[in-house]
Amino acid sequence: MSKQHEIAVIGGDGVGPEVVEAELAVLDATGAPFAYKHYDAGDDCLERTGQAMPEETLAGAKAAEAVIFGAVGASAAEVILRLRKELGAWANLRPSKAYAGVDCLRPETDMMIVRENSEGLYIGEEGERGPGVATATRVISDAASYRIARHAFEFARQAGYGKVTAVHKVNVLKKTDTVFLEACRRAAAEFDGVEYEEALVDSVAMRMILKPSDFQVMVTTNLFGDILSDLAAGLIGGLGMCPSANLGDGPGLFEPVHGSAPDIAGQGKANPSAAILCGAMLLRSLGYGDEADRVEAALAGCLAAGETTQDLGGSLSTMGMASAVVARMEG
Ligand code: NAI
Ligand code: MG
Repeated sequence: MSKQHEIAVIGGDGVGPEVVEAELAVLDATGAPFAYKHYDAGDDCLERTGQAMPEETLAGAKAAEAVIFGAVGASAAEVILRLRKELGAWANLRPSKAYAGVDCLRPETDMMIVRENSEGLYIGEEGERGPGVATATRVISDAASYRIARHAFEFARQAGYGKVTAVHKVNVLKKTDTVFLEACRRAAAEFDGVEYEEALVDSVAMRMILKPSDFQVMVTTNLFGDILSDLAAGLIGGLGMCPSANLGDGPGLFEPVHGSAPDIAGQGKANPSAAILCGAMLLRSLGYGDEADRVEAALAGCLAAGETTQDLGGSLSTMGMASAVVARMEG
């Protein structure tokens, strides 16, 4: 028998456990040798145990080969930021790909945002300069920039994308974004055959809406990546469609971009697409590329045929949609 991969599963709150159940059903149907261990975290966990992020969960996540995460509620910052940090996840990969059958603004969109996850403004290093005056520090290092830029080029090469765009604001942030861009250029020089371009973040925001086909892989600093990836989600039909992967020194952490959706929780209404796409990213990260392709093709088939949850105009429940994906994989 082939090696079993140990996967830590943190369903969390609200629709988190529901979309994760759907994701696991689809992963099981691929036949990939995964062994799951379930862990507790989030608002409910806090209420029951006094801790949103128990040590046992953290230790389990660190010891696993990968982590599947659903969503948590108000404790998101405590839980997910802590997990990303403790797992050494310095790269945040956020794909935005439009699928036929899903109503959206820009059906031609197919881009991957590779966001630096360990430094920059988003870290929230803030202070006070005096009464009514606050500061935020933006630390950008050559080491972290080069590491994320190389990751973007490696991803582009593996996934068959022909271009990497470094997104910056060097005309204003002259020192920090010079460090970032010089590191990106060094990485670009190591990857023949992948085109490299640099673009200012404000004009990128406009061009993403007017002509998303200009972009394939984007590499950028933490806060710009945070904002642009939600913009990209808006192009393809919203949060229910957006998976993400946090990768780095430890196990990868795979989570839908959406939250715990308390308004629809417990009703079987949650769209499992983002979570299922997280499953495909996880498969690929562990070397199961063919299985990942099968999952994505089956999901695309369901979306095109209207075999979806209500938010996308269909009539299936969360698990009903998972079963439809599995049926296409087996069909
Ligand atoms: P949300 O993403 O939970 O919901 C926003 C809207 O999108 C809601 O109308 C919801 O019903 C809908 N939606 C979200 N996921 C969906 C899905 N899979 N299928 C169909 N519709 C879906 O964001 P919101 O409302 O701002 O936050 C709710 C809670 O989630 C908050 O407590 C917040 O802190 C937490 N949150 C957690 C995150 C995480 O665990 N990574 C990320 C974002 C928010
Ligand atoms: Mg965000």
